[in-house]
Amino acid sequence: MNSGNSTRIFFNEVATRDGFQMEGRFVPTADKIALVDELGALGYARIEVTSFTSPAAIPALRDAEQVMGAIRRVPGVVYTALVPNLRGAQRALACAADEFNIVMSTSQTHNLANLRMTREQSFAQLSDVVGLARERAVPVNVSLSTAFGCPMEGDVHPDEVLDWIRRFAELGIAGVTLCDTTGMAHPVQVQQLCTRVLQQFPALGVTAHFHNTRGMGLVNVVSAAEAGIRSFDTSLGGIGGCPYAPGATGNVATEDVAHMLQCMGYVTGLDLTRLIAAAARLESLVGHQLPSQVSRSGPRLTRHQPPAGFEEIKARAQARGQSPLAGGKI
Ligand code: COA
Ligand code: ZN
Repeated sequence: MNSGNSTRIFFNEVATRDGFQMEGRFVPTADKIALVDELGALGYARIEVTSFTSPAAIPALRDAEQVMGAIRRVPGVVYTALVPNLRGAQRALACAADEFNIVMSTSQTHNLANLRMTREQSFAQLSDVVGLARERAVPVNVSLSTAFGCPMEGDVHPDEVLDWIRRFAELGIAGVTLCDTTGMAHPVQVQQLCTRVLQQFPALGVTAHFHNTRGMGLVNVVSAAEAGIRSFDTSLGGIGGCPYAPGATGNVATEDVAHMLQCMGYVTGLDLTRLIAAAARLESLVGHQLPSQVSRSGPRLTRHQPPAGFEEIKARAQARGQSPLAGGKI
């Protein structure tokens, strides 16, 4: 059963960036490369391969060059990377990232904690990154952290979020990602902010990025999709989180979002069976149970055997001349 909706939704996989940056165990470089290669064939629009951040800040991704330099590129898939400053952009350029996903926070406190700069200092650095990207014809997306609230400051006013988007749009960037860094967004807020962003910036590609910290991740995806968002960041297995945001937990899981949207009739382009198989391998890579649900339960029409003793129950019911199931199927 679905709504008959045939709207296309584009997926940006972030497990190898948002996911691995939060894992205690270092995932070996060869395994990261193999995972990106596997995911490249599953129908994503974009894969955020890694981040070109300081290895002291994010040790889990200290092998960014090796990973970005060795992955197999599937034509049509954009292999992007997180870039916090000019140094990061130069590193990303050297190994031919298809896109710079520049990052800053809409909250001053989180920007200082995460990037060790004020927002204005970040904006100045990122303006230089956009200049470099223009010279080298690399598209730029900006990920705006804490756009739905900051775990240290509380609500971030939507006008402030819109103002940062305007400033980046004036630099000529291609897209913006509205990041709910610690799962503070709720569906009404999502509907309101997404509607305003889409109305005010019709030329920008707009992506939504939700974490499931308070169990509102999937409903926020629905709310954003109904507001007109067509691109989502999701993480295989639901791993993820910002190490510099107190209380952060995993992103919405790719397989959970894909399954839900497919049930609703959206076209995801993703191969759910292979995603679930990839999640099983990811679980052994990270060494703990994944927070995603469809990877354990299977899709909604997964059939289970009746309980032990069922034949006897059925025979007894029949002997009593009853037909316990509708339509006399028993
Ligand atoms: N890549 C690699 N090294 C970098 C770098 C980059 N993009 N930017 C700075 N460095 C190095 C400097 O060369 C310097 O090295 P040294 O100590 O060997 O001389 C060191 O990092 C400190 O440089 P500085 O400019 O003072 O940076 P900082 O300590 O103020 O940190 C960031 C600023 C942005 C580099 C750092 O906070 C960071 O990488 N944050 C990323 C956080 C993140 O990814 N969070 C999760 C995603 S939202
Ligand atoms: Zn995130």
